[in-house]
Amino acid sequence: MLVPTHVPVLLQETVEALAVQAGGRYVDCTLGGGGHAAAILDQSSPGGQLLGIDADPEAIKIAKARLDAYSGSILLVNENFVNLQAICLKHDFSPVHGILFDLGLSSLQLNSNGRGFSFQHDAPLDMRFSPSQEVTAADIINTSSEAKLARLIKIYGEEGYSHQIARHIVQERPIRTTLQLAQAIERAVGTRRGRIHPATRTFQALRIAVNHELEHLEAALKQAINLLGFDGRLVVISYHSLEDRIVKQFMHQESRDCICPPGTPACICQHTASLQLINKKAITPSPAEVQLNPRSRSAKLRTAKRIDTQDNLAWLKNAFPPPMVKAGVMGSNLLKNRRAF
Ligand SMILES: C[S@@+](CC[C@H](N)C(=O)[O-])C[C@H]1O[C@@H](n2cnc3c(N)ncnc32)[C@H](O)[C@@H]1O
Repeated sequence: MLVPTHVPVLLQETVEALAVQAGGRYVDCTLGGGGHAAAILDQSSPGGQLLGIDADPEAIKIAKARLDAYSGSILLVNENFVNLQAICLKHDFSPVHGILFDLGLSSLQLNSNGRGFSFQHDAPLDMRFSPSQEVTAADIINTSSEAKLARLIKIYGEEGYSHQIARHIVQERPIRTTLQLAQAIERAVGTRRGRIHPATRTFQALRIAVNHELEHLEAALKQAINLLGFDGRLVVISYHSLEDRIVKQFMHQESRDCICPPGTPACICQHTASLQLINKKAITPSPAEVQLNPRSRSAKLRTAKRIDTQDNLAWLKNAFPPPMVKAGVMGSNLLKNRRAF
């Protein structure tokens, strides 16, 4: 039987970017099928520890089975990474040597018949990473105004035909399934435009909206800095320009001492750099990787390291933890030997 799997993207490059070392402590904010996590655990052995987070309970189950051999070194949490700081605080898991975000959705989710992420399978329009979220893609499609839908499809899908698509959606409502939606979009803009299916950008837009992906990424990146020990690595793999822009701007801003608007006669922001960029340009997959795993073609990996020496832990302990939206922990007798570094 063919076991469904997710092929980790830029695997070797990720391990190198994280500068994984024996005995190191790492957070994988997007555990997925556990592919990156397994490589991090291999490389950090002996003594490595990994806190794995995923909003999707199915992903946690799959990763738990895959990482069974490391059960004494992992802690898996079914949570949203928007709560990164609170999760690490709760499990006394900081400072860490590296934090990884491998954004978006896994092939396991994309290829799953019932989740509604893909127009390749007919399924209810769901698209939630976690069943605990209230709003589904069907809710957005069937209750938003035409103007709101057009805006959402334009901004989150970077779709040039957003108005035509929104008009057709509103005319054809109620739309309950992925195929109904894909067909409505085909009727709006024709069946083929270039290499991608005409529904691709609208599906991306809906997924981003349902899961608040961009807001959660921005919030989590800010929290990540304070969890890193000195020299700790922040590594982010993104798959579309909206995500990559957020990551790039964030890393650039946090690697500058002053972020006052250009032309300000004297610094008034008092901002100090907390990161140093490791690569000025994003790392992208080799042609060989893209051929083996076409899903990797849009991937961009960016890395920065923590540079200042302020006491991150003190900062964390004083911080007011944000509310936990939902917590489920699977795991282990991890973290008996906590070390500060
Ligand atoms: C591209 S996959 C990660 C694949 C993984 N690196 C591997 O090697 O198998 C992205 C995963 O992140 C999860 N995810 C996306 N956004 C999330 C969020 N805000 N909080 C927690 N998990 C999230 C998804 O559910 C999905 O399982």
